[in-house]
Amino acid sequence: MASLSAQTLLCIALTVVICLIGGVDGSLEGGQREFDYFALSLQWPGTICHGTRHCCSSNACCRGADSPTEFTIHGLWPDYNDGTWPSCCAQVQFDVKEISTLLDALEKYWPSLYCGQSSTCYSGRGLFWAHEWEKHGTCSFPVFRDEYSYFLTTLNVYFRYNVTKILNEAGYIPSNSKRYPLGGIVSAIENSFQATPEVICSKDAVEEIRLCFYKDFKPRNCLASKTSCPKYVSFPAYVSLGRNESETDGSWISEDEAL
Ligand SMILES: *[C@@H]1O[C@H](CO)[C@@H](O)[C@H](O)[C@H]1NC(C)=O
Ligand SMILES: *[C@@H]1O[C@H](CO)[C@@H](O)[C@H](O)[C@H]1NC(C)=O
Repeated sequence: MASLSAQTLLCIALTVVICLIGGVDGSLEGGQREFDYFALSLQWPGTICHGTRHCCSSNACCRGADSPTEFTIHGLWPDYNDGTWPSCCAQVQFDVKEISTLLDALEKYWPSLYCGQSSTCYSGRGLFWAHEWEKHGTCSFPVFRDEYSYFLTTLNVYFRYNVTKILNEAGYIPSNSKRYPLGGIVSAIENSFQATPEVICSKDAVEEIRLCFYKDFKPRNCLASKTSCPKYVSFPAYVSLGRNESETDGSWISEDEAL
């Protein structure tokens, strides 16, 4: 009897696993039910870029004067009303070619703020966008059935509500010395967006603001959750990290080494 190589056995095992998690009845994998609402998660570069220790070309924190100074998109997430969420809902791999016409906008408004690759469901590790589409985007069925419409609509919803502008106009200006009342930030968004956002902090700094939507993109309240923020929060200004030879000496490393 010919002995099977370890590689062959692994291939067979993987095929079985893929068949098991593969589509039972079409739309959602793994018996996950249809989602209840969307959260548009926006990240604050002022906070996240403070944590950048090394620079790399994929990290928008490292673009010097071109680094983002407004909230950028983290993702559009289908969620359940019980606080959980579906993930990796269709066995499709992210294909950057499908969104080639959106890349300029995505680089600007939906950039990665980290080095290192993101985990994905089916294509190993890859781009930040691959992670968002495979993990979250595929669960937005039946609202979105393809990658292009998921990314295009997310950009359009993002353009409709300029959270950076809402906060600035209410007097919440990025600062590396001031503290602001969390309640004031929430109220400023409620007044403009007409629904309650969720604010996520890293220590005392605003890291993300999430806007929630019904499936037709009418605003709705996010779930009332225990916030990760203190009563008074900081809203840090972006501090340039890169493009300064004298300061970044030795800190530019290749993407593979980062993280
Ligand atoms: C949001 O508003 C700010 C001004 O406060 C502006 O600089 C920025 O371009 C706006 N962003 C978008 C995506 O329209
Ligand atoms: C670059 O570093 C020098 C020396 O530390 C500093 O004087 C200068 O302001 C920095 N330039 C930028 C653009 O950060």
